[in-house]
Amino acid sequence: MNFKERIEWLRREIERHNRLYYQLAEPEITDAEYDALMRELQELEKRHPETITPDSPTQRVGGAPLEGFHSVPHSSPMLSLANAYSLEELQDFDRRIRDVIGNEYKYVCELKIDGVGIALRYREHRFQQGLTRGDGAAGDDITANLRTIRSIPLRVPADSPIEFEVRGEVFIRAIDFQKMNRKREEDGEKLFANPRNAAAGSLKLLNPSEAAERPLTAWLYDLRGITEPLSHFQRLKLLDKMGFPVNPHRRLCANLEEAWDFCGEWGEKRDSLPYEIDGVVIKIDSLEQREVLGFTAKSPRWAAAYKYPARQAVTRLKGITLQVGRTGYITPVAELEPVFLAGSTIRRATLHNEEEIARKDIRGGDTVLIEKGGDVIPKVVSVNMESRPADSQPFVMPDKCPACGAQLAKLPDEAIRRCPNISCPPQRLGRIVHFASRAGMDIEGMGESTVKQLLDAGLLSDYGDIYYLKKEQLLPLERMADKSADNLLAGIEASKERPLEKLIYSLGIKLVGAGVARILAERFGSIDALAEADEDALLAVEDIGPGIAASVVEFFANPQNREALEKLRRADIKFEAEKTADIEVEQIFKGMTFVLTGTLKNYTREEASEIIRRRGGMVSSSVSKKTSAVLIGENPGSKYDKAVKLGVKVMGEEEFNKLIGELRWEKKKM
Ligand code: IVH
Repeated sequence: MNFKERIEWLRREIERHNRLYYQLAEPEITDAEYDALMRELQELEKRHPETITPDSPTQRVGGAPLEGFHSVPHSSPMLSLANAYSLEELQDFDRRIRDVIGNEYKYVCELKIDGVGIALRYREHRFQQGLTRGDGAAGDDITANLRTIRSIPLRVPADSPIEFEVRGEVFIRAIDFQKMNRKREEDGEKLFANPRNAAAGSLKLLNPSEAAERPLTAWLYDLRGITEPLSHFQRLKLLDKMGFPVNPHRRLCANLEEAWDFCGEWGEKRDSLPYEIDGVVIKIDSLEQREVLGFTAKSPRWAAAYKYPARQAVTRLKGITLQVGRTGYITPVAELEPVFLAGSTIRRATLHNEEEIARKDIRGGDTVLIEKGGDVIPKVVSVNMESRPADSQPFVMPDKCPACGAQLAKLPDEAIRRCPNISCPPQRLGRIVHFASRAGMDIEGMGESTVKQLLDAGLLSDYGDIYYLKKEQLLPLERMADKSADNLLAGIEASKERPLEKLIYSLGIKLVGAGVARILAERFGSIDALAEADEDALLAVEDIGPGIAASVVEFFANPQNREALEKLRRADIKFEAEKTADIEVEQIFKGMTFVLTGTLKNYTREEASEIIRRRGGMVSSSVSKKTSAVLIGENPGSKYDKAVKLGVKVMGEEEFNKLIGELRWEKKKM
């Protein structure tokens, strides 16, 4: 096999494994074996860049962030479906069909996936362009983001039609959604309310490499633009054969009764599916009959969406309590008479903010209707005014903190009130838990309940005190045996080695999540330098806006925060990013200018730049004839093309590693 054949074979094989893994959940090889195939292909493509085509599996993530999306007209409108909420409504739909085409017809029943509608265009066996539904007439071109979804084929078999369009739904599986939200919580990022919002938000990210990190997947249910006279059911089969992800839960039904059975079956099994569905779509199978039936202004006459009833329940709202978050924000919560709904017992529901409570006029003692969509937290839909107690009083948002009594602040541009007292107990608890969390200083054994115990015992007043805990203080605590005390102390000791970025994140500075913390650590290099930075110095850093700058300055100006920091310093927590001394390093890159492109396997860009600089080299952002070498990682961008054009040396990561030597030592010391 020559290299071209090998490349071709690898591409086919990788796409086959993508399908097995992402669509069929039946992997044939291990992740490591898959990675090995991918690495081999990358190596070969690096050596033979002329073979790289946009449909290579190495090219799923690539390209620079976009400025915005272009709107592109749909080949034919992406319509919505008429909804039916009962058997009667479906019978009306069925009757209207029989009135037009008689009794000879079949229905195809499919699950109605609760995701985001998309249209994919293929030409000459390659994925060309993908659009959102938009307003139905035109959608946004989100091709770069759709390419990152590994269940969407970048190419189709050679015997597929030369040009066609596929429509379907992009969604996120429940378990991936939970993982993603957990990670966001750890990173201090805003949570998504439900998988659909998360999918929609991800498809509209301007940076495709960010979209690639989102666990998006797809089911496709419509093949159009082909000439063969195939029915819808046959088309689904063909789509499947062409390698598209087609939902296996579909059925050809001879009449409405059979379709209704399908609705009933999935209504019962719906909670066992690993993704959200909100109903069943019932479609006429024959395309000729569809043509005869035609459309109304909004939807086809040949299809209907049977919508499952929302998972709702009626219960009593015992009262409204206020939750104080780590940064002092106050959120009202509905305390409910426990009620069982869609697989779990519900005791609380979110009320968002005081405006929402006023709008729905929700009061303590009310009988309320609650609803659980795909949403993480159930919500109060409405109040039954008829059963409202005579003595009921409208809810008044207190102006004092429910936990510490401090006067609450409300900024003009914020709908939520905030407790300004940094010593407020729930804030203090939240801050210490955040400090010790996995994404922060990662202190083994120091979860919320332990922190609570330590606070209650008066052993902590801020996170600085963690490092002064003594074994004899821990032992009297409940559930704290000799061994667990030792483990906790060992966990605390181990956390002293965390890198600067983790420490900065742990401090709990408002608006400083993991990403911002990394940037601040890289740019300022130490807690002291960061503490000294004024707003201008912070604003000079790329990606740091006025909100973050103000919040950082405010944090370090606060005497209580300063006190906690001093405790950390005295406990020998690392306040500086580690660097190796310049003298140890030979100046092998002296006089050279490097340009970096693509994702490196072993380093972040900042790390690689630092390695080059420490060896006397310079790093520039654009390629010119004067560039000494372009260091390329995975999915190199246009800088790579330019280097090839100008005849500038292209250096792979391996060559770079060989030059600098002692890779492992290097990484550890940085
Ligand atoms: S067929 C003419 N089939 O539901 C409309 N739609 O309310 C053809 N959806 O915009 C749509 N699962 O985004 C169809 N199996 C399925 C579906 C499905 C989810 C979505 C789709 C559409 C919306 C209609």
